[in-house]
Amino acid sequence: MNTRCSLLRLRRKQFIPSLLTLLSICVLLLVKYSYITDLLLFPAASDVQTFHRYNVNCSAIYDMDPVEVGKSLTIRSEKVVEDEDESLVNYTSNCSSFHQSRGYNDVCVSKEEKNFPLAYSLVVHKSAWMVERLIRALYSPSNIYCIHYDQKSSAQFISAMEGLARCLPNVFIASKRESVFYASISRLKADLNCLSDLSSSEVKWKYVINLCGQDFPLRSNIELVSELKKLNGANMLETSRPSESKKQRFTFHHELKDVSFEYQKLPVKTERKKSPPPHGIEVFSGNAYFVLSREFVAHLNASVVVKDFLAWSEDTYSPDEHFWATLVRLPGVPGEVSRSQPDITDLMSRTRLVKWQYLEDKLYPPCTGQHVRSVCIFGAAEMRWLLNYGHWFANKFDPKVDPILIQCLEEKLQEKQKFFQSQTLKTCPKG
Ligand SMILES: *[C@@H]1O[C@H](CO)[C@@H](O)[C@H](O)[C@H]1NC(C)=O
Ligand SMILES: *[C@@H]1O[C@H](CO)[C@@H](O)[C@H](O)[C@H]1NC(C)=O
Ligand SMILES: *[C@@H]1O[C@H](CO)[C@@H](O)[C@H](O)[C@H]1NC(C)=O
Ligand SMILES: *[C@@H]1O[C@H](CO)[C@@H](O)[C@H](O)[C@H]1NC(C)=O
Repeated sequence: MNTRCSLLRLRRKQFIPSLLTLLSICVLLLVKYSYITDLLLFPAASDVQTFHRYNVNCSAIYDMDPVEVGKSLTIRSEKVVEDEDESLVNYTSNCSSFHQSRGYNDVCVSKEEKNFPLAYSLVVHKSAWMVERLIRALYSPSNIYCIHYDQKSSAQFISAMEGLARCLPNVFIASKRESVFYASISRLKADLNCLSDLSSSEVKWKYVINLCGQDFPLRSNIELVSELKKLNGANMLETSRPSESKKQRFTFHHELKDVSFEYQKLPVKTERKKSPPPHGIEVFSGNAYFVLSREFVAHLNASVVVKDFLAWSEDTYSPDEHFWATLVRLPGVPGEVSRSQPDITDLMSRTRLVKWQYLEDKLYPPCTGQHVRSVCIFGAAEMRWLLNYGHWFANKFDPKVDPILIQCLEEKLQEKQKFFQSQTLKTCPKG
């Protein structure tokens, strides 16, 4: 691990100055030739009904071509078009035209994909088109997708999600829905509601993956299937020994309180100490993201220890960030990570690539998008880095920060899906 890290660090040190030079060239080019980009900025006429598409050359973005990366910077500073939830509601009112224009009719399934179905738990609350694009990027008729929308979501957003579930036979709405508050147990329960529905579905999925609205895949379905097969029944998630400050999250009783802050309610620490976890459980910490085997999920449902640990977690801060990390360390669970095994950090687990502001320049090149609460919302100049890092999904993406990156990732994933399917047996709807 150490040698690997220092090697990577060396390479990144060379990479960062060249990136900066590249960006300054872009800025110069922009100042000089900004009128050129305007000429290139007409949307493709056939796509006006769906979300907005931009006229950029994604191969050139991937190749870090300074002019094309510069163009993406101009677009995001001037031309970002917001996609309305309402247009997806309208769009899904005619399922056959929705299928046709979004290419759901053309999705082929390879033998490997058919024999290795995946399940998704999507916990989302806004930006309907991003949810659709996330599903489309990962779509395979062999998979199954559970959408948990927030009880607080807008009526338009909810209608759009219902539209998706109506038009796509393997997409459904969670039968029980929570009002989700940041860092509270409701976030965890939303995933558990989907897991419960997914477990009783007739689709015999092999792995379940949870996603939120600001995630995006870095691998196509056929690539994911091939990678998850190699796990051989193991689970993939972050699970580390908590720092002293993190321990406070579950050694003190927390109360959900109204805050006059961007979140309406937040679990607030009290002075009351909590009793230790039940059954002598040792708490590990990680993040909210998982890739879990079917056997592991079935075990969770049947286990009294898990039920008691969930109840104990009710008044902790951000229980989703220690629940999964702890359960995977329980002795005897399917795909167990033994308690003595070293930490599995977020950069070792391939479930989610996240850039923390304070680790930029140390572990990875700087963010080229924007930061929100110390996390990077990626920009187009990070496309190559994202795709080549080795992780399966990344967080965060936002079309209002950089619509080009999302569009180009979609293109690249479609390309990869086609390429890998072309080398294997597959069945396509049109023969
Ligand atoms: C896009 O850029 C690549 C180089 O990165 C180039 O080979 C290709 O011809 C360009 N495509 C178009 C349509 O301009
Ligand atoms: C809804 O779709 C119809 C055509 O299918 C279109 O004429 C109409 O403008 C759309 N309305 C909105 C709000 O997008
Ligand atoms: C739905 O769209 C298709 C075109 O894709 C059209 O032929 C059909 O008439 C539409 N159905 C309704 C009910 O509008
Ligand atoms: C989960 O457990 C409950 C009983 O605790 C049982 O009724 C249900 O069928 C189980 N679900 C699955 C999918 O195994």
